[in-house]
Amino acid sequence: SDPGLVARARAAKAALGDRLFVLGHHYQRDEVIQFADVTGDSFKLAREAAARPHAEYIVFCGVHFMAESADILTSDDQRVVLPDLAAGCSMADMATFDQVEECWEALEDAGIADDVVPITYMNSSADIKAFCGRNGGAVCTSSNARKALEWAFQRGRKVLFLPDQHLGRNTAVLEMDMGLDDCVVYNPHRPNGGLTAQQLADAKMILWRGHCSVHGRFTPECVDDVRQRIPGVNVLVHPECRHEVVTKADHVGSTEYIIRKLREAPAGSAWAIGTELNLVKRLAQEFPDKQITFLDRTVCYCSTMNRIDLPHLVWALESLAAGQVVNQITVDADTAHWAKVALDRMLALP
Ligand code: 13P
Ligand code: SF4
Repeated sequence: SDPGLVARARAAKAALGDRLFVLGHHYQRDEVIQFADVTGDSFKLAREAAARPHAEYIVFCGVHFMAESADILTSDDQRVVLPDLAAGCSMADMATFDQVEECWEALEDAGIADDVVPITYMNSSADIKAFCGRNGGAVCTSSNARKALEWAFQRGRKVLFLPDQHLGRNTAVLEMDMGLDDCVVYNPHRPNGGLTAQQLADAKMILWRGHCSVHGRFTPECVDDVRQRIPGVNVLVHPECRHEVVTKADHVGSTEYIIRKLREAPAGSAWAIGTELNLVKRLAQEFPDKQITFLDRTVCYCSTMNRIDLPHLVWALESLAAGQVVNQITVDADTAHWAKVALDRMLALP
């Protein structure tokens, strides 16, 4: 990365000292991640944000929903900054508050809303998290989805899982002894989600029709292909991948899990990784004694994660050092209250 910008980022960080804390998601670019005080998956970063009561500024190198969650979990006098406001998440955008309200009305009309506990993946806007908080539900991440579902099924007979159908299905079927026929997909663009009252009554998991376009690129053929190319390869994928991919893989887990798995792997072992490319490239550099390849043959970055680049980070840090708070992410008090209820339920899972 540009040495001039690196020096400026260092100087601004030094000037801010303990007033600043920089969080970096594993999908961030190398040029950005080098300035993170802590790196992690969504769950770890939420906990880290909550554990920094003395930092005046939290600069979040990640995407919008993560910065919102950090704002919700920190105190009112702490400021959360997202270096580029265009760093959103296409999956989070697939569930809007109005659509989810409409869905809930459909469940009420079908007479089943009282049986349903709403669980939202962290990758959702603050108002969806607040919706879950208000309606007896919780947030989950890819590292605690099973525990969140176990919690939910102690409280209700059905779960509405938002917005990632794949994480919901993969967790239900692979970790909770449910079958594919226990799951139905609610399509927010169709009346009643495209489901009959009977289908809603029979389902245990009502999966929102959302997905990650980055992880959606991995196909079962990618797995077959890599197994042919590299005999004995271990296939390790993120649970945002499609069910047909996950069932063909050897291991599945969050970004933090993927890193741990590779750290523990014996030297000389071969791994094909199905997750975002910045992370996979970094892992290949970090563990040169293991053969680490990307599961797909084409390139697949998360374009919104990549919006946070060194120029944006330098701009944010230098602005803060000059006393100007830019790109602050704030969640209104009522939304924040109920979203925190849902987030706290997640943080309290065993
Ligand atoms: P985790 O880091 O929680 O595994 O999530 C991956 C992701 O897609 C974040 O957007
Ligand atoms: Fe959203 Fe997928 Fe990017 Fe994660 S990788 S931020 S789920 S678009």
